[in-house]
Amino acid sequence: MTANPVSSPTSARRFLKAALLLATGLVLGACGKKEPPPPAPAPVASAPAPAPVKVYTVGTDAAYAPFESQNEKGEIVGFDVEVVQAIARKAGFEVKFVNTPWEGIFNALQQGDRDLLVSAITITDERKQTMDFSAPYFDAQQLIAVREGSKIAAFQDLKRLKAKVGVQTGTTGDEAVTKLLGKTSTAIKRFESTPLALKELESGGVDAVVADNGVVVHYVANNPGGKFKALTDKEFVPEQYGIAVKKGNAELLAKINQGLEGIKADGTYAAIYAKYFGAPPAAPAAAAAPAPAASR
Ligand code: ARG
Repeated sequence: MTANPVSSPTSARRFLKAALLLATGLVLGACGKKEPPPPAPAPVASAPAPAPVKVYTVGTDAAYAPFESQNEKGEIVGFDVEVVQAIARKAGFEVKFVNTPWEGIFNALQQGDRDLLVSAITITDERKQTMDFSAPYFDAQQLIAVREGSKIAAFQDLKRLKAKVGVQTGTTGDEAVTKLLGKTSTAIKRFESTPLALKELESGGVDAVVADNGVVVHYVANNPGGKFKALTDKEFVPEQYGIAVKKGNAELLAKINQGLEGIKADGTYAAIYAKYFGAPPAAPAAAAAPAPAASR
């Protein structure tokens, strides 16, 4: 006889018995259990799971009321913001706004740090080389802000009177003034934001500021007491704002255009316009400039 326990008949029998008991126990145990819980409800099998809603990052230079600015809570608000939110709702995507200084805004798009830009951006041929624009969503024009009592009455006066002129660097206002006074003119004072240029007008550091009509009119209206006035001039060419995407991002551009068309058709655009500019847009949205309530 060997000492191998399993080969001993007694051990073998004991082993079998134990195995049997175990098996029975398992079976009994299983039977004794209550109804197994119903299988978890299967995820709606028929329809494919909806694609997660895309969240796009929107760059905006939020120092450009009433188009984009930060309220007391630091939230980015304004006409552009509401237009893009409405477009997103219409076209079925989500947006997240990120304050992005103007001087780096186009680069941020180029680098892919922002998916789209809304920042009262004028559609220009030069910009079209490096980015794609939506259909126009707003008509604009340059205006000249001066202090009340200023001798400046027209665009050419900036040159004639050797005025110091404030602009936001790299804007269409900058372009217009640079064209008038020359690239190397020391009379042009460039600022990183339009509010900074306007502060300088207030303090007397510059004699005029050239910027978009909406912003100038807003500024004049919010500085009551007739301290400033806005001048229009036929020399300024009509401008149109567009929403910018990275060159070649046709998918996002199509969604934006589709949403924009939708909110123009259903009255949402006109309602937002009226909220910010008093009256609904004069002609089919974005076809006419808001009356420059300018010259006083
Ligand atoms: N419309 C002008 C331009 O495109 C000025 C835009 C400035 N926008 C802003 N959020 N700072 O050059």
